[in-house]
Amino acid sequence: MVAVVEVVVLGGGGVPGKTGGETGAEVGAEVGAEVGATAGADVPGVPGEPGVPGVPGMPGMPGGDAEAGASSGGDRVVSGGAVGDGAVAVDGTAAVVGPPRAGPPVQAATASSPTAATTVARTGATPAATGRGRRRPRPRAGSVLSMVMQATVGEPEQGAGPRRPLVLDVDTGVDDACAILLAAAHPAVDLRAVSCVGGNAPVDDVVANTLTVLDAAGRKDVPVARGADRPLLEPPVDARHVHGEDGMGDLVWPRSGRSPDPRHAVELLRDVLLAAASSGDPDERVTLVPLGPLTNIALLLRTYPRVASGLREIVFMGGSAGVGNATASGEFNVVHDPEAAAVTLDAAADLGVPVTMYGLDVFYQPTVTLDQARALVAVGGRGSAELAGRLIAFQCERFGVAAATIGDAGAVCAVLAPEALECERLPVRVELGGSWSRGRTIVDRRDWSGDLAHDPHGRAATSLRVALGVDAARFSSLWLSVVGRTTS
Ligand code: BDR
Ligand code: CA
Repeated sequence: MVAVVEVVVLGGGGVPGKTGGETGAEVGAEVGAEVGATAGADVPGVPGEPGVPGVPGMPGMPGGDAEAGASSGGDRVVSGGAVGDGAVAVDGTAAVVGPPRAGPPVQAATASSPTAATTVARTGATPAATGRGRRRPRPRAGSVLSMVMQATVGEPEQGAGPRRPLVLDVDTGVDDACAILLAAAHPAVDLRAVSCVGGNAPVDDVVANTLTVLDAAGRKDVPVARGADRPLLEPPVDARHVHGEDGMGDLVWPRSGRSPDPRHAVELLRDVLLAAASSGDPDERVTLVPLGPLTNIALLLRTYPRVASGLREIVFMGGSAGVGNATASGEFNVVHDPEAAAVTLDAAADLGVPVTMYGLDVFYQPTVTLDQARALVAVGGRGSAELAGRLIAFQCERFGVAAATIGDAGAVCAVLAPEALECERLPVRVELGGSWSRGRTIVDRRDWSGDLAHDPHGRAATSLRVALGVDAARFSSLWLSVVGRTTS
């Protein structure tokens, strides 16, 4: 019999324009995390965690413009979830990883009851047994994830087709590490290389962190290369105040003994993409997911434009249609190297490479609770699950919150479950001047054309799919379902 793990996340899904604070509050609300496994329908459920207080997704960093996703302007490319396939309920509030199941949901989240955004197991327990208002015993340490580990899990989100070639460009980075763990272990992903760029930490730390994460994920086969150690024009400014002194949470985790690939990151990227192009098979084309400053990518596209024929698309974490984080106006990856971001968008447009911007409008919304992180840590063994849990716990502890974003991992989720992302095709420019706005992505959301003839700037030629809404619960459960069942 095939055992099935279902992760049901209630609330918060598919609602454009949520702020990170709202999402965090929902995640932390009332019930807390309950994750369970069913082997067929027979395995008893796992008791739920006691509640954790509602908290913002990250202090001072709302998830974006509260109006994001509400506009009717632009070409709406994708909306909603995979309704009818058991993945997302008709009202968009429940996400299920695993096949459809009979019977009522364990607990329903509604617009009038938006507080049940927590991961809930399909345990076979009655609704009364999982109802609110009753203090339930804590699970034994590790019992939640142990059950996940012991179950024979159906492949999450895997299609029937070939595995999808994917390359990450990272500045690891706590949340870059979360992304690497997902891409390294997802059965539908063929992770071909990881290139490193200075950003959250100096590039040598980024390389060391990246190798360490891949070791934990059991992926010593994936080549890692050192790339740009500074932005194109300005000196680097790292984010160790966010990511820790070593750039990855100061976890005192055993470091990798592996050496990086001898090639520069731009050369490794070139070789991987040209090899994909030379196969002539469209399924071989690589999805490039930059998660740090775009320095390597700008250099790559302008130096070796032929790589475009090996590229399927670029899905990058960066920018914002609303507020910034590194500055009031700009998002860190773009602020760190605005010229590189501008060159990348321009070159991609020149070369006909589709680009999706997974920016701050959605970035903070997919979250994992501290209780869920502790359950991951309890798996132990210095593998993927333990590292994933420690990364989330670090963020929760550093910012004094009870749930933290999976961050850059959301951009990988956007590749794996694009139907859970709400996007509009919009013109985007990068601000390269400005007293206070350098590094801002100026997303043109005007839905009227009357003033355009009098606009000295006109409309940007670079048009991107801009993510403005996300089924955050689905991304969170996708991430948990992969990192929670893997070890080194
Ligand atoms: C981005 O900046 C970094 O801190 C994160 O890793 C992410 O890529 C968010 O602004
Ligand atoms: Ca990053």
